[in-house]
Amino acid sequence: MRAARFHSFGASTVLQVEEVPWPAPQRDEVLIRVHASSINGTDLQFRGGQLGPLLASQLPFTPGFDVAGEVVGGGPSVTAFAPGERVYALLGHRGGGAAEYVAVRQSRIGPAPHSVSLVEAAAVPLSGLTALQALRGEGHLKAGQRVLIYGASGGIGAFAVQLAKILGAHVTGVARAEKLEFVRQLGADVVLATGEVSWDAAPPYAQPYDLIFDTPAALHFDEVRQALSGQGVLVSSRGLPTSPGDVAALLRRRGPRFANVRTAERGLDLAYLSRLIEAGQLKIPVDRIFPISDIRGAHTYAEGPEVRGKVVVSLEASSGGR
Ligand SMILES: NC(=O)c1ccc[n+]([C@@H]2O[C@H](COP(=O)([O-])OP(=O)(O)OC[C@H]3O[C@@H](n4cnc5c(N)ncnc54)[C@H](OP(=O)(O)O)[C@@H]3O)[C@@H](O)[C@H]2O)c1
Repeated sequence: MRAARFHSFGASTVLQVEEVPWPAPQRDEVLIRVHASSINGTDLQFRGGQLGPLLASQLPFTPGFDVAGEVVGGGPSVTAFAPGERVYALLGHRGGGAAEYVAVRQSRIGPAPHSVSLVEAAAVPLSGLTALQALRGEGHLKAGQRVLIYGASGGIGAFAVQLAKILGAHVTGVARAEKLEFVRQLGADVVLATGEVSWDAAPPYAQPYDLIFDTPAALHFDEVRQALSGQGVLVSSRGLPTSPGDVAALLRRRGPRFANVRTAERGLDLAYLSRLIEAGQLKIPVDRIFPISDIRGAHTYAEGPEVRGKVVVSLEASSGGR
Protein backbone atom coordinates (compact mmCIF):
# COMPACT_ATOMS: atom_id res chain seq x y z
CA MET A 1 0.00 0.00 0.00
CA ARG A 2 1.02 3.65 -0.38
CA ALA A 3 2.05 5.72 2.62
CA ALA A 4 3.72 9.08 3.14
CA ARG A 5 6.90 8.74 5.19
CA PHE A 6 9.99 10.60 6.28
CA HIS A 7 13.32 8.93 7.04
CA SER A 8 14.93 11.97 8.64
CA PHE A 9 13.70 15.18 10.26
CA GLY A 10 13.57 18.41 8.33
CA ALA A 11 11.55 20.58 5.95
CA SER A 12 8.54 19.19 4.03
CA THR A 13 10.97 17.92 1.35
CA VAL A 14 11.85 14.96 3.62
CA LEU A 15 8.37 13.57 2.90
CA GLN A 16 7.87 10.98 0.19
CA VAL A 17 5.17 8.53 -0.84
CA GLU A 18 6.40 4.93 -0.70
CA GLU A 19 5.14 1.36 -0.93
CA VAL A 20 4.99 -0.18 2.56
CA PRO A 21 3.54 -3.42 3.98
CA TRP A 22 -0.14 -3.52 4.92
CA PRO A 23 -0.91 -3.28 8.64
CA ALA A 24 -2.06 -6.56 10.20
CA PRO A 25 -4.87 -5.86 12.72
CA GLN A 26 -4.32 -7.51 16.10
CA ARG A 27 -6.97 -8.50 18.70
CA ASP A 28 -9.37 -5.51 18.99
CA GLU A 29 -7.88 -3.51 16.11
CA VAL A 30 -10.08 -2.47 13.20
CA LEU A 31 -8.60 -2.27 9.69
CA ILE A 32 -9.69 0.99 8.05
CA ARG A 33 -9.34 1.89 4.39
CA VAL A 34 -8.35 5.52 4.78
CA HIS A 35 -10.16 8.17 2.73
CA ALA A 36 -8.28 11.05 4.33
CA SER A 37 -6.08 12.13 7.19
CA SER A 38 -5.62 15.64 8.53
CA ILE A 39 -2.50 17.66 9.28
CA ASN A 40 -2.11 18.81 12.87
CA GLY A 41 0.43 21.02 14.57
CA THR A 42 1.86 17.82 16.02
CA ASP A 43 2.67 16.44 12.53
CA LEU A 44 4.69 19.54 11.73
CA GLN A 45 6.56 19.41 15.04
CA PHE A 46 7.36 15.70 14.63
CA ARG A 47 8.54 16.10 11.03
CA GLY A 48 10.56 19.20 11.87
CA GLY A 49 12.39 17.35 14.62
CA GLN A 50 11.16 19.50 17.50
CA LEU A 51 10.24 16.29 19.32
CA GLY A 52 13.24 14.47 17.89
CA PRO A 53 14.59 12.48 20.83
CA LEU A 54 11.14 10.99 21.42
CA LEU A 55 10.79 9.89 17.84
CA ALA A 56 14.25 9.04 16.51
CA SER A 57 13.76 5.33 17.17
CA GLN A 58 10.52 5.35 15.17
CA LEU A 59 12.03 6.47 11.85
CA PRO A 60 10.92 6.01 9.12
CA PHE A 61 7.71 7.64 10.31
CA THR A 62 4.30 7.97 8.65
CA PRO A 63 2.60 11.20 9.79
CA GLY A 64 -1.13 11.60 10.32
CA PHE A 65 -2.70 11.25 13.75
CA ASP A 66 -6.29 11.05 12.64
CA VAL A 67 -8.20 9.41 9.80
CA ALA A 68 -11.66 8.92 8.34
CA GLY A 69 -12.49 5.92 6.20
CA GLU A 70 -14.31 2.65 5.78
CA VAL A 71 -13.99 -0.50 7.88
CA VAL A 72 -12.64 -3.40 5.81
CA GLY A 73 -11.70 -5.93 8.49
CA GLY A 74 -10.35 -6.42 11.97
CA GLY A 75 -8.83 -8.64 14.63
CA PRO A 76 -10.68 -11.48 16.38
CA SER A 77 -11.85 -9.35 19.36
CA VAL A 78 -13.50 -6.58 17.37
CA THR A 79 -17.14 -6.28 18.43
CA ALA A 80 -18.14 -2.67 17.80
CA PHE A 81 -17.59 -2.20 14.05
CA ALA A 82 -18.31 -4.19 10.90
CA PRO A 83 -16.99 -4.00 7.34
CA GLY A 84 -18.56 -1.23 5.31
CA GLU A 85 -19.11 1.16 8.24
CA ARG A 86 -18.00 4.78 7.85
CA VAL A 87 -15.78 5.71 10.77
CA TYR A 88 -13.22 8.20 11.99
CA ALA A 89 -10.52 7.73 14.58
CA LEU A 90 -7.73 9.28 16.59
CA LEU A 91 -4.55 7.26 16.22
CA GLY A 92 -1.97 7.11 18.98
CA HIS A 93 1.41 8.84 19.13
CA ARG A 94 2.77 6.46 16.48
CA GLY A 95 0.82 8.29 13.75
CA GLY A 96 0.36 6.34 10.52
CA GLY A 97 -2.71 8.12 9.14
CA ALA A 98 -1.23 9.32 5.85
CA ALA A 99 -1.50 5.83 4.37
CA GLU A 100 -4.04 3.75 2.44
CA TYR A 101 -4.83 1.51 5.44
CA VAL A 102 -4.45 1.72 9.22
CA ALA A 103 -5.20 -0.68 12.07
CA VAL A 104 -6.76 1.10 15.06
CA ARG A 105 -8.06 -0.13 18.42
CA GLN A 106 -11.85 -0.05 18.36
CA SER A 107 -12.10 2.18 21.46
CA ARG A 108 -10.38 4.96 19.47
CA ILE A 109 -12.98 4.90 16.70
CA GLY A 110 -16.34 6.65 16.36
CA PRO A 111 -19.05 6.61 13.71
CA ALA A 112 -18.28 9.27 11.08
CA PRO A 113 -20.99 11.90 10.67
CA HIS A 114 -23.37 10.96 7.83
CA SER A 115 -23.92 14.53 6.73
CA VAL A 116 -20.38 15.15 5.46
CA SER A 117 -17.85 13.40 3.23
CA LEU A 118 -15.19 11.18 4.78
CA VAL A 119 -12.56 13.59 3.46
CA GLU A 120 -14.10 16.42 5.48
CA ALA A 121 -14.65 14.16 8.50
CA ALA A 122 -10.91 13.46 8.66
CA ALA A 123 -10.39 17.04 9.88
CA VAL A 124 -12.21 16.32 13.12
CA PRO A 125 -10.61 13.74 15.43
CA LEU A 126 -7.45 15.29 16.92
CA SER A 127 -8.49 18.95 16.78
CA GLY A 128 -12.11 18.32 17.73
CA LEU A 129 -11.30 15.99 20.61
CA THR A 130 -8.58 18.29 21.95
CA ALA A 131 -10.97 21.24 21.92
CA LEU A 132 -13.79 19.26 23.52
CA GLN A 133 -11.63 17.71 26.22
CA ALA A 134 -9.93 21.03 27.02
CA LEU A 135 -13.21 22.92 27.42
CA ARG A 136 -15.60 20.33 28.85
CA GLY A 137 -13.00 18.17 30.57
CA GLU A 138 -10.03 20.13 31.99
CA GLY A 139 -11.85 23.48 31.87
CA HIS A 140 -15.23 22.30 33.27
CA LEU A 141 -16.84 24.96 31.08
CA LYS A 142 -20.42 25.82 31.99
CA ALA A 143 -23.14 27.81 30.24
CA GLY A 144 -22.88 31.52 30.88
CA GLN A 145 -19.14 31.51 31.55
CA ARG A 146 -16.64 33.69 29.72
CA VAL A 147 -13.99 31.93 27.70
CA LEU A 148 -11.07 33.21 25.65
CA ILE A 149 -9.68 31.03 22.85
CA TYR A 150 -6.06 31.91 22.01
CA GLY A 151 -5.04 30.77 18.50
CA ALA A 152 -8.73 30.81 17.50
CA SER A 153 -8.12 30.44 13.74
CA GLY A 154 -6.00 27.28 14.04
CA GLY A 155 -7.14 23.67 13.85
CA ILE A 156 -7.96 23.25 17.53
CA GLY A 157 -9.02 26.88 17.90
CA ALA A 158 -11.63 26.72 15.13
CA PHE A 159 -13.31 23.78 16.87
CA ALA A 160 -12.90 25.36 20.31
CA VAL A 161 -14.71 28.58 19.36
CA GLN A 162 -17.69 26.61 18.06
CA LEU A 163 -17.78 24.10 20.93
CA ALA A 164 -17.58 26.85 23.56
CA LYS A 165 -20.60 28.52 21.95
CA ILE A 166 -22.45 25.19 21.83
CA LEU A 167 -21.71 24.76 25.55
CA GLY A 168 -23.32 28.15 26.17
CA ALA A 169 -20.27 30.31 26.86
CA HIS A 170 -19.52 33.90 25.92
CA VAL A 171 -16.56 33.53 23.56
CA THR A 172 -13.65 35.83 22.80
CA GLY A 173 -11.43 34.61 19.95
CA VAL A 174 -7.84 35.79 19.53
CA ALA A 175 -6.08 35.45 16.18
CA ARG A 176 -4.02 37.39 13.66
CA ALA A 177 -5.84 40.54 12.51
CA GLU A 178 -6.36 39.19 8.97
CA LYS A 179 -8.08 36.06 10.30
CA LEU A 180 -10.55 37.74 12.64
CA GLU A 181 -13.43 37.62 10.13
CA PHE A 182 -13.00 33.82 9.97
CA VAL A 183 -13.14 33.63 13.78
CA ARG A 184 -16.23 35.83 13.84
CA GLN A 185 -17.94 33.52 11.35
CA LEU A 186 -17.19 30.59 13.65
CA GLY A 187 -19.45 32.30 16.18
CA ALA A 188 -17.12 34.25 18.48
CA ASP A 189 -18.91 37.06 20.33
CA VAL A 190 -15.76 39.18 20.50
CA VAL A 191 -12.61 38.97 18.35
CA LEU A 192 -9.23 40.42 19.23
CA ALA A 193 -6.04 40.60 17.19
CA THR A 194 -3.18 38.78 18.89
CA GLY A 195 -1.23 42.00 19.47
CA GLU A 196 -4.25 43.76 21.04
CA VAL A 197 -4.55 41.46 24.03
CA SER A 198 -3.61 42.97 27.35
CA TRP A 199 -3.81 40.39 30.11
CA ASP A 200 -3.88 43.05 32.81
CA ALA A 201 -7.04 44.72 31.58
CA ALA A 202 -8.72 41.69 29.95
CA PRO A 203 -10.27 43.84 27.21
CA PRO A 204 -12.70 44.74 25.90
CA TYR A 205 -14.97 44.44 28.94
CA ALA A 206 -12.33 44.42 31.65
CA GLN A 207 -14.16 41.39 33.07
CA PRO A 208 -12.15 38.31 33.91
CA TYR A 209 -12.32 35.06 31.99
CA ASP A 210 -13.45 31.81 33.57
CA LEU A 211 -11.38 29.88 31.07
CA ILE A 212 -8.49 30.80 28.78
CA PHE A 213 -7.69 28.03 26.31
CA ASP A 214 -4.15 28.49 24.98
CA THR A 215 -4.21 26.33 21.84
CA PRO A 216 -0.65 27.08 20.62
CA ALA A 217 0.83 26.63 24.12
CA ALA A 218 2.27 30.13 23.93
CA LEU A 219 1.15 31.43 27.34
CA HIS A 220 2.15 30.92 30.95
CA PHE A 221 -0.03 31.16 34.04
CA ASP A 222 1.78 34.09 35.61
CA GLU A 223 1.28 36.34 32.58
CA VAL A 224 -2.51 35.74 32.28
CA ARG A 225 -3.38 35.38 35.97
CA GLN A 226 -4.84 38.91 36.23
CA ALA A 227 -7.28 38.10 33.43
CA LEU A 228 -8.69 35.01 35.18
CA SER A 229 -11.71 35.00 37.49
CA GLY A 230 -11.40 33.77 41.08
CA GLN A 231 -11.93 30.14 40.05
CA GLY A 232 -10.66 30.65 36.49
CA VAL A 233 -8.38 28.26 34.67
CA LEU A 234 -5.70 28.52 31.99
CA VAL A 235 -5.93 25.33 29.94
CA SER A 236 -2.83 24.76 27.81
CA SER A 237 -2.26 22.34 24.94
CA ARG A 238 1.31 21.94 26.24
CA GLY A 239 1.76 18.31 27.20
CA LEU A 240 3.50 19.19 30.47
CA PRO A 241 3.84 22.44 32.44
CA THR A 242 7.24 24.00 31.79
CA SER A 243 7.44 27.02 34.11
CA PRO A 244 7.48 27.14 37.92
CA GLY A 245 4.36 29.34 37.88
CA ASP A 246 2.46 26.79 35.79
CA VAL A 247 3.51 23.95 38.09
CA ALA A 248 2.46 25.86 41.22
CA ALA A 249 -0.91 26.72 39.66
CA LEU A 250 -1.37 23.11 38.54
CA LEU A 251 -0.94 21.84 42.09
CA ARG A 252 -3.18 24.51 43.65
CA ARG A 253 -6.56 23.32 44.95
CA ARG A 254 -8.29 26.72 45.15
CA GLY A 255 -8.20 29.95 43.20
CA PRO A 256 -7.09 30.50 39.62
CA ARG A 257 -5.31 27.44 38.32
CA PHE A 258 -3.43 25.90 35.41
CA ALA A 259 -4.36 22.71 33.59
CA ASN A 260 -3.01 20.99 30.52
CA VAL A 261 -4.99 18.85 28.12
CA ARG A 262 -3.64 15.48 26.99
CA THR A 263 -5.97 14.37 24.28
CA ALA A 264 -7.57 10.99 24.92
CA GLU A 265 -8.39 8.69 22.00
CA ARG A 266 -12.00 8.33 23.08
CA GLY A 267 -14.47 6.94 20.56
CA LEU A 268 -17.44 8.03 22.71
CA ASP A 269 -16.34 11.66 22.42
CA LEU A 270 -16.06 11.21 18.63
CA ALA A 271 -19.65 9.94 18.59
CA TYR A 272 -20.69 13.08 20.50
CA LEU A 273 -18.94 15.30 17.91
CA SER A 274 -20.68 13.36 15.11
CA ARG A 275 -24.06 14.13 16.63
CA LEU A 276 -23.23 17.86 16.76
CA ILE A 277 -22.09 17.79 13.12
CA GLU A 278 -25.18 15.90 11.95
CA ALA A 279 -27.38 18.37 13.83
CA GLY A 280 -25.72 21.20 11.91
CA GLN A 281 -24.40 22.77 15.11
CA LEU A 282 -20.70 22.08 14.50
CA LYS A 283 -19.13 22.95 11.13
CA ILE A 284 -15.93 21.30 10.00
CA PRO A 285 -13.48 24.12 9.24
CA VAL A 286 -11.62 22.66 6.24
CA ASP A 287 -9.35 25.19 4.57
CA ARG A 288 -7.73 23.05 1.84
CA ILE A 289 -7.60 19.45 0.67
CA PHE A 290 -4.44 18.03 -0.93
CA PRO A 291 -3.97 14.62 -2.59
CA ILE A 292 -1.41 12.40 -0.87
CA SER A 293 0.77 12.67 -3.98
CA ASP A 294 1.30 16.30 -2.91
CA ILE A 295 2.00 15.58 0.76
CA ARG A 296 4.94 18.01 0.62
CA GLY A 297 2.69 20.79 -0.66
CA ALA A 298 0.16 19.97 2.07
CA HIS A 299 2.75 20.30 4.85
CA THR A 300 4.23 23.45 3.32
CA TYR A 301 0.78 25.05 3.12
CA ALA A 302 -0.10 23.93 6.66
CA GLU A 303 3.05 25.63 7.96
CA GLY A 304 2.31 28.88 6.15
CA PRO A 305 0.60 32.03 7.35
CA GLU A 306 -2.65 31.66 5.35
CA VAL A 307 -4.29 28.66 6.99
CA ARG A 308 -7.70 29.07 8.57
CA GLY A 309 -8.81 25.87 10.27
CA LYS A 310 -7.71 22.52 8.89
CA VAL A 311 -5.62 21.09 6.04
CA VAL A 312 -6.61 17.60 4.90
CA VAL A 313 -4.68 14.96 2.93
CA SER A 314 -6.94 12.84 0.73
CA LEU A 315 -6.30 9.22 -0.21
CA GLU A 316 -9.24 9.16 -2.62
CA ALA A 317 -8.01 8.54 -6.16
CA SER A 318 -9.81 11.47 -7.76
CA SER A 319 -8.91 14.06 -5.14
CA GLY A 320 -7.20 17.28 -6.01
CA GLY A 321 -6.41 20.55 -4.26
CA ARG A 322 -9.20 23.07 -3.80
N1 LIG B 1 -1.51 18.12 24.57
C1 LIG B 1 -2.11 17.43 23.60
O1 LIG B 1 -2.60 16.31 23.82
C2 LIG B 1 -2.18 18.03 22.23
C3 LIG B 1 -3.07 17.50 21.29
C4 LIG B 1 -3.15 18.08 20.04
C5 LIG B 1 -2.35 19.18 19.74
N2 LIG B 1 -1.49 19.67 20.66
C6 LIG B 1 -0.66 20.86 20.36
O2 LIG B 1 -1.53 21.94 20.13
C7 LIG B 1 -0.86 22.91 19.36
C8 LIG B 1 -1.82 23.54 18.36
O3 LIG B 1 -2.24 22.55 17.42
P1 LIG B 1 -3.13 22.96 16.16
O4 LIG B 1 -3.30 21.70 15.37
O5 LIG B 1 -4.32 23.74 16.54
O6 LIG B 1 -2.12 23.92 15.38
P2 LIG B 1 -2.42 25.00 14.27
O7 LIG B 1 -3.55 24.56 13.39
O8 LIG B 1 -1.12 25.34 13.66
O9 LIG B 1 -2.98 26.25 15.08
C9 LIG B 1 -2.19 27.00 15.97
C10 LIG B 1 -2.79 28.41 16.04
O10 LIG B 1 -2.11 29.15 17.03
C11 LIG B 1 -1.64 30.38 16.47
N3 LIG B 1 -0.35 30.66 17.06
C12 LIG B 1 0.80 29.97 16.88
N4 LIG B 1 1.78 30.48 17.65
C13 LIG B 1 1.24 31.53 18.31
C14 LIG B 1 1.74 32.47 19.24
N5 LIG B 1 3.02 32.43 19.64
N6 LIG B 1 0.89 33.41 19.71
C15 LIG B 1 -0.40 33.48 19.31
N7 LIG B 1 -0.94 32.60 18.42
C16 LIG B 1 -0.12 31.65 17.93
C17 LIG B 1 -1.57 30.16 14.99
O11 LIG B 1 -1.84 31.37 14.32
P3 LIG B 1 -1.16 31.78 12.91
O12 LIG B 1 -1.00 30.51 12.12
O13 LIG B 1 -2.13 32.71 12.29
O14 LIG B 1 0.11 32.40 13.27
C18 LIG B 1 -2.69 29.16 14.74
O15 LIG B 1 -3.91 29.81 14.51
C19 LIG B 1 0.34 22.20 18.74
O16 LIG B 1 1.49 22.67 19.38
C20 LIG B 1 0.13 20.75 19.07
O17 LIG B 1 1.33 20.06 19.28
C21 LIG B 1 -1.40 19.12 21.90
